[in-house]
Amino acid sequence: MDVKVVTGAIQESDADGIVVNLFEGVDVPGGATGVVDAALGGPHGGPHSGPHSGPHSGPHGGPHSGPHSGPIQDLIAAGDFEGKAGQVAVLYPRGAIPARRVILVGLGSRKDFDDDPAEAVRRAAAHAAQKARDLKVERMASILHGAGSGDLSVAEAAQAVTEGTLLGLYEYRGQKTDEPDKTPPQVLELTIFDDEDVSSAQRGVDAARAIAAGVTLARDLVNLPPNICTPTYLAQAAEEVAAVAGLCVEVLDREQMEALNMGALLAVAQGSDTPPKFIILEHNAGRADELPTIVLVGKGVTFDTGGYSLKSGEGMQTMKTDMAGAAAVIGALRTIGEMDAPLHVVGLAPASDNMISGRAYRPQEVFTASNGVTIEIVSTDAEGRMLLADALVYAKRYNPDAVLDIATLTGACYVALGGAAAGLFSTDDGLRDALLAAGKATAEKVWPMPLFSAYKKTLESETADVKNSGSRGSGVGSSAMFLKQFVDYPAWAHIDMAGLAFDAAGKVTLFRDNPYVSKKSATGFGVRLLVEFVRRWTA
Ligand code: BES
Ligand code: MN
Ligand code: ZN
Repeated sequence: MDVKVVTGAIQESDADGIVVNLFEGVDVPGGATGVVDAALGGPHGGPHSGPHSGPHSGPHGGPHSGPHSGPIQDLIAAGDFEGKAGQVAVLYPRGAIPARRVILVGLGSRKDFDDDPAEAVRRAAAHAAQKARDLKVERMASILHGAGSGDLSVAEAAQAVTEGTLLGLYEYRGQKTDEPDKTPPQVLELTIFDDEDVSSAQRGVDAARAIAAGVTLARDLVNLPPNICTPTYLAQAAEEVAAVAGLCVEVLDREQMEALNMGALLAVAQGSDTPPKFIILEHNAGRADELPTIVLVGKGVTFDTGGYSLKSGEGMQTMKTDMAGAAAVIGALRTIGEMDAPLHVVGLAPASDNMISGRAYRPQEVFTASNGVTIEIVSTDAEGRMLLADALVYAKRYNPDAVLDIATLTGACYVALGGAAAGLFSTDDGLRDALLAAGKATAEKVWPMPLFSAYKKTLESETADVKNSGSRGSGVGSSAMFLKQFVDYPAWAHIDMAGLAFDAAGKVTLFRDNPYVSKKSATGFGVRLLVEFVRRWTA
């Protein structure tokens, strides 16, 4: 979709559909919606309408609506449109204005809106865009929801509208061979009144486009079937990202990982005929000395059978999504590169599948990670932490200011937080707070979980330095404590996003009623969170 910033009055747009909004509880629409309503009312629409707008006319060049305005007021008066979030109505101008349709979208209550204006706008924009798609609108125009009411800056509003629109129109067609029955709108014209606001609006649009590209990539990678999205495929995707976003890329193969003594990662990979890859993406590699360094690490298990600690058939059903952490990191690096963030950002994606074979690792075997720590295998299904262990050790070579890992690590974390947020573990309070703030800003929520030293006890092994899984019931905490054994820098955070990668039944609490997160499909969780974290670090 092409997103353009245009100046003018929305009621003068000749798009196939123009989008205006309404707060819940408003009887007489104001602002652009009021102007459109008055225009739709035609010359007889009210005492104030007509070509000569008086001294009290609003900034949009027309009169603010009066009691006799137009069909939008009729709709409200009849009780057919309340302005609730998610509500959409379509009106037909019959020549009163050049546009073919008016799409009226509810912004919800003023109070809910004020709690999180950007999120309300993203959602409203997604609802409007989906309606436009259903109506086969090719060219849509929208006002900047939230900018007029002063809740958001022009740049923020433009970003939120664009982000909601692009993400709301995401669709994964997979390997379906039939023709799609819907074609999304091709053009979005963000219509702003003041010439002075063009560059701010454009900034917001550019940010949103970069973000949507990263999220879309992550969603696609997670949605792809595991026979296509192998570690080799992920590596190729990273190479393409590097080319379009101006990043450095390096992919280590099995021999190179052997040379680095990555015994933990290789233990998982040895059971599979599909070769593992260790993917490295780097933004501002040439300025590593002068810029702060952040390393992002993502779990890239391209399919998790559980290995010999085999999952049930049902438990395996969504395990193509077990590389969602890696997808989030690759997607975030794409966005960060396109935005040209003034930081040195490294993305690491250790990738392997977790299989059964004559060569697969087994419980009670012991492996040595690249920092020399020996690991006794208790469960071959605790494979993600094995990959992350060697990647967290690798991260140290960048002398990082902060290291963040993100992984679909434990079902227990999902249960603990009821699917309302990802689990957040951190060794640094500032880092934790920064991630909480980024989570709030993006509605990709994270919530703090403890790193009690007592979890360490659950990992004590008779035969090695550490076990790869703790006692029953200590699932979330012991997984984070396991990872901590491979961390050797002051600021580290671990994000457990198990269960948030894919909303199979449309029932994940965090994404309930969210129109810009696709249902029965990958969510792209983590990209916007990581990007926002990086943007805030910069600011
Ligand atoms: N990939 C799974 C975690 C997972 C479970 C993600 C459900 C999404 C939905 C991970 O590799 C795993 O199997 N974890 C085990 C940990 C246990 C063996 C300590 C789990 O959650 O049961
Ligand atoms: Mn597993
Ligand atoms: Zn896994």
